[in-house]
Amino acid sequence: METRMSGMGMGLVLVVLLGSSAVWAGDDLRVYACRCEYKVDPIGIDVSRPRLSWKIETPRKAVTQSAYQIRAAGKLDDLVGGKSLLWDSDKVKSDQSIHVSYAGPDLLSRQRIYWQVRVWDNQGGVSDWGRPACWEMGLLSPSEWKAQWIEPDLTEDTKISNPCPLLRKAFILRSPIRSARIYVTCHGLYEMELNGRPVSDALFAPGWTAYDKRLQYQTCDVTSLVKEGNNSVGVILGDGWFRGRLMGGPGRNLYGNTLAFLAQIEIVYEDGRSEMVVTDATWKASTGPILVSDIYDGETYDARLEKEGWTQPGFDDSAWSGVKVAQHSKDVLVAQEGPLVRRIQEIRPIKVYRTPAGQTVADMGQNMVGWVRIRVKGQAGTQVTLLHVEVLDKDGNVYTANLRSAKQTDRYIFKGAGEPEVFEPHFTFHGFRYVAVEGWQGDPSLDDLTGVVIHSDIAPTGTFECSNPMLNQLQHNIQWGQKGNFLDVPTDCPQRNERLGWMGDAQVFARTACFNADVAGFYTKWLADVAADQKTDGAVPHVIPDVLSRGQPTGGASAGWADAAVVVPWTVYLCYDDTRILERQYLSMRAWVDYMARRAGKGGLWKQDFTFGDWLAFATTRSDYPGATTDKDLICQAYFARSTDLVQRAAAVLGKTQDARRYADLLKKTKETFRREFVTANGRLASNTQTAYALALAFDLLPASQRADAARRLAADVDQFKHITTGFLGTPVICQVLSDYGYLGQAYMLLNRKNYPSWLYPITRGATTIWERWDGIKPDGSFQDEGMNSFNHYAYGAIGQWLYAVVAGLELDPDHPAYKHVLIQPHPGGGLSFARASLDSMYGKISSNWQVKAGLMRFDVSIPPNTTATVTLPKAQEKAVTEAGRSLSKVEGVRSVSQKGTSVVARIGSGTYSFEYPWSAP
Ligand code: BGC
Repeated sequence: METRMSGMGMGLVLVVLLGSSAVWAGDDLRVYACRCEYKVDPIGIDVSRPRLSWKIETPRKAVTQSAYQIRAAGKLDDLVGGKSLLWDSDKVKSDQSIHVSYAGPDLLSRQRIYWQVRVWDNQGGVSDWGRPACWEMGLLSPSEWKAQWIEPDLTEDTKISNPCPLLRKAFILRSPIRSARIYVTCHGLYEMELNGRPVSDALFAPGWTAYDKRLQYQTCDVTSLVKEGNNSVGVILGDGWFRGRLMGGPGRNLYGNTLAFLAQIEIVYEDGRSEMVVTDATWKASTGPILVSDIYDGETYDARLEKEGWTQPGFDDSAWSGVKVAQHSKDVLVAQEGPLVRRIQEIRPIKVYRTPAGQTVADMGQNMVGWVRIRVKGQAGTQVTLLHVEVLDKDGNVYTANLRSAKQTDRYIFKGAGEPEVFEPHFTFHGFRYVAVEGWQGDPSLDDLTGVVIHSDIAPTGTFECSNPMLNQLQHNIQWGQKGNFLDVPTDCPQRNERLGWMGDAQVFARTACFNADVAGFYTKWLADVAADQKTDGAVPHVIPDVLSRGQPTGGASAGWADAAVVVPWTVYLCYDDTRILERQYLSMRAWVDYMARRAGKGGLWKQDFTFGDWLAFATTRSDYPGATTDKDLICQAYFARSTDLVQRAAAVLGKTQDARRYADLLKKTKETFRREFVTANGRLASNTQTAYALALAFDLLPASQRADAARRLAADVDQFKHITTGFLGTPVICQVLSDYGYLGQAYMLLNRKNYPSWLYPITRGATTIWERWDGIKPDGSFQDEGMNSFNHYAYGAIGQWLYAVVAGLELDPDHPAYKHVLIQPHPGGGLSFARASLDSMYGKISSNWQVKAGLMRFDVSIPPNTTATVTLPKAQEKAVTEAGRSLSKVEGVRSVSQKGTSVVARIGSGTYSFEYPWSAP
């Protein structure tokens, strides 16, 4: 509950007595990292009530925010001067420091709002006003678009990839300019320049959405690019996801067979007048150096066809073609919501060498996603070819079969400038570690090739490290799997002719993704497409954006895949306390559960004609050594219960009590059906597999009386096989269930195992990303089935959450999302002598570091202001635990301590703590 108080609050400096030490409060409290809708100073947003978040910093312990005040103004001077304010929240007594909704007057298109916040704390401290931040609204209704859709008037054969069209327009601005914006989007992909300079560093704009229903536009501040006098704007269009090749076969033109462009440049002059330059019939069109550009196949660039200065004023376009004005919808336009795709990192090859087959190959040392920038001389008309592959075969030659029909080949044709020419592609990306280079004059040196790593610009938030280097490599591989597959949509893989938003993969990896990076905005954008592409009967397609069942009345609806529509919003809610995502996705979440309930009918058993099951689970042809196929009906029913449970919880969070009751009833029935159909009287599951037990326990499907027995059976199965047998659905939960039920040793055994099948086996084969299959490369060096053998597939990386939450012990409390209350409970074991994890949460940095050395456990914990934590110190006796040399009862910030079995449980306030106690190896 929030209460409002007017006025400026109490005195600025108070002496606060904490324990025995006196602390001066007042000038040591600071707000920072002020963000709006997860972004720093965003422009062009279309959220009508943007949410504001900030972090708090202070050297003092046990600090919580007791009140905040936000003020907002249309001008920076007014804000800082505290006059002509648009909104002043006054002092609001509340500990809310994330997602505070703007509550000033309704916002208009283009409106820019400056805001700042100050806070009070529970110890009498008050901060200064924080650094002014801002946001700017985009175009809030279709009628704001004066621009017309245009299409290049060029002859094309749309059955194949065509040269990328160029569009340009020259214009004159008559006075000095105060500000300029571009609102821009297209059918296809665009790269735009104004007066010879890029309008933004975005790649793959406008991104991939359910284009018929939602098409994003981007807003760029181009004030510094325009000038009084002659100006010129130019854009290159690529086929991208819109009409390029998607999925197998020659399939092109999925969303339409013509490229189109829409842009509105809005200028405000110093004297307050404004002007617009828009796309219309006066634009000119041509083709340029990009002859072929396709996401799967790569790009062919003929530098001889470059048009020098074509985005600059004074360029002669008299020979260019015109454009056609098209009537495409503007009702589908939405502002850019998630992070843009950008060039994030550059890496150099670790070696260049000749393969036994005689090819020149550069080894980037890392399976990466993006492309290679080359710098090389050549004669006009000769070409360099770059073929990108993930792995080498047994003999050390490049291996292309797992790319299926994706060519992943860039070709650069020299203009023969006499000096080194620099090339990087535009509308394609490759998943690769090795680049086979052909046509290079002499041998490339390590400096001639640069790996450009691209992905959605998600800020890294998590770190995990421990004493086992192989587990550190595993963490590295998980993070690189995420980088490579967070390219505007969460994809299955980045290399073969697929690269789609596979729902099952996204579902199992979401929690780990939220540890590694700030993915709230990324998922928010994609979840809108999940809802948009969901079928009217509630079925959720296998991939989003839906390119597999487009135009069909129903489709998808596979257990564990479709459930992403429920699990991912719930995960975003938990990790970022984002209730708005639940509000926005609620109907979609519910529709999916209603679909299953309808199909289940009176009998209550949900079955589907086709579902993927525990995809890629351990299989064998040995008759004396069974595989691990879990009954698909059992999986369907387990996920039916899981999603129903989450919808029930979402309804409760949103205050929809009737719905909460209704779905609680459905959940009860669904669990009863599960037990009736799949659990024997003695608690054995119909499928005696690791996945069956792990799902039943993780989703709480068994009565209390049968749980311990089920866990015992699971552990026995692990003991018997001595390895994991799970596929996509069992893998994310098996270690969690084992550790929850007291089988930590078995969980660590699975984690530490180096032979196939295991997480570490690929590392013994040099993996730098997570593989799609446990045995992508078999122990004898041969490959798994080339039809499905990606070496960069994040799904099995879902173990990441267990590393953070259990090994290092950094977990959220679902009753206090976003780590407002942190559960810190490390699980030493597995031969580790230390593990440390950190997470830059919505409130600030949390860390949990344990180390066992010379009979001592040292455990360093840090939680940010405005959070609390319950710390569980394993295998500890209360009296033997000290914090920085003092007994716990004397430690400032420690609110309570109790002995719970063999653990000591301490409730702490914010700050940094260093616990120590005697440790004997378990
Ligand atoms: C994808 C998967 C996906 C699966 C469906 C594959 O081709 O790469 O990761 O989930 O199809 O089972």
